[in-house]
Amino acid sequence: MKTLSELFERNRCWSMRQLQEDPEYFLRLAKLQAPKYLWVGCSDSRVPANQITGLNPGEVFVHRNIANVIVHTDLNCLSVVHYAIQVLRVEHVIVCGHYGCGGVRAALDGQPNGLIDNWLRHIEDVLERHADFLESIADHESKWAKLCELNVIEQVRNLARSTPVRDAWQSGRELMLHGWIYGLKDGRLADLDMSACCREEFDAAYRKALDNAKS
Ligand code: CO
Repeated sequence: MKTLSELFERNRCWSMRQLQEDPEYFLRLAKLQAPKYLWVGCSDSRVPANQITGLNPGEVFVHRNIANVIVHTDLNCLSVVHYAIQVLRVEHVIVCGHYGCGGVRAALDGQPNGLIDNWLRHIEDVLERHADFLESIADHESKWAKLCELNVIEQVRNLARSTPVRDAWQSGRELMLHGWIYGLKDGRLADLDMSACCREEFDAAYRKALDNAKS
């Protein structure tokens, strides 16, 4: 007997439904992967990229890690970004955080959690960079929400400085970066308004997004 048989049963039902709607569905998908979007999001089980954007399999390339962090030397994330830009030729890279992020909260609260503390240090860096502003917020929930926003903004900045994005922009590619945040309580995406498709545009968009977040 298969373990987790209920998941196999759900899979069987799903594939049958897809075939009923479109008998060529899987044949077509198997031949071609041509997503327009790369999504870098949090691993949180409540923030599934395809579902919340209403996109089908084949329409979005996805990388997720705890608290949607883009680390300069993370070969896993950088390989995904490189492959999406150079091979799949995506037109948009979206970094999407979410309010209520447990990783961001753990960094904010600073309680020891073992191995993951090393990963959360990257969010502590964001916290330290904006310490003056964050310390001015008394309410813990509000501070947590702001750090979630600032984390997205800083991770988009890291993305803009990565070699795959630099190379694409230097070669004149129309590659657009975006910073978004998702609300667990209402299921709605919000744009942090820092979309940019070249280095100069990005620098201005980054400053504007920080001003917006802090106003
Ligand atoms: Co999260």
